[in-house]
Amino acid sequence: MRQYIIGNWKMNGTKTDAKQLATTFVKRVSEANRPLPHIVLCPSHPYLMAVAEILKDSPLEVGAQDCHPENKGSFTGDVGAFQLKDIGCQYVLVGHSERRQHHHETNELIRRKLEAAIKEGLRPVLCLGESAEERAQGKTFDTISKQLLAALPSDVMPQDFLIAYEPLWAIGTGLTPTRAEVEETMGFIKHELSTHTTGGALVPILYGGSVTGRNAPAFLSLPHLDGLLVGGASLKVDEFWDIINASVR
Ligand code: 13P
Repeated sequence: MRQYIIGNWKMNGTKTDAKQLATTFVKRVSEANRPLPHIVLCPSHPYLMAVAEILKDSPLEVGAQDCHPENKGSFTGDVGAFQLKDIGCQYVLVGHSERRQHHHETNELIRRKLEAAIKEGLRPVLCLGESAEERAQGKTFDTISKQLLAALPSDVMPQDFLIAYEPLWAIGTGLTPTRAEVEETMGFIKHELSTHTTGGALVPILYGGSVTGRNAPAFLSLPHLDGLLVGGASLKVDEFWDIINASVR
């Protein structure tokens, strides 16, 4: 499967920064002389349109960082999947741990967001991951399984969505699981998907958490890994480009 490299810019930068990053990557991709992975940029909401405009005739794609489960209505400050699709988004992150934590998002709400995104023709990236405490208590698989099964749509079409495994303790800390741990967790997620759904074994599974230009090659060469979800390093042109170039398929 062709790998995915997704940059989550979170709440960083200005409009000028966003446009510059997008323009630079379009140029680099147009000059690349090797097969590239799927590349998705996820700016914060105010910059989505500007970035979507810059990427529109390129192979790069644009994603949002969140959506509301309803398409319209009295939801002040929220943005619906329908509106994201309308301005040219192809992807949306759902259930990122920073939303689960700071906005108290439940698995039930995340399932509704996932379904809304799929219904509107976006590809949601369902984020899963255990906290340091859950890991210390040996509850990693239990936590991931609960998050996954509670959010899974009833009819899974593998092309409908992606999964990103992002352990909370690895996000922005410089800490990462070992390759063997990532491989084991990927295998577990694939097993859960194939046990509980038809077609789920083909859902792409990404890793995220303190990915850098240095550690990306080791992760991307794992047989079960379909890509990376990158935070901080996706804001640095050369480092993100190194990560893109570390893709192996
Ligand atoms: P970092 O790559 O900065 O650790 O962030 C990971 C992340 O949360 C991506 O969604």
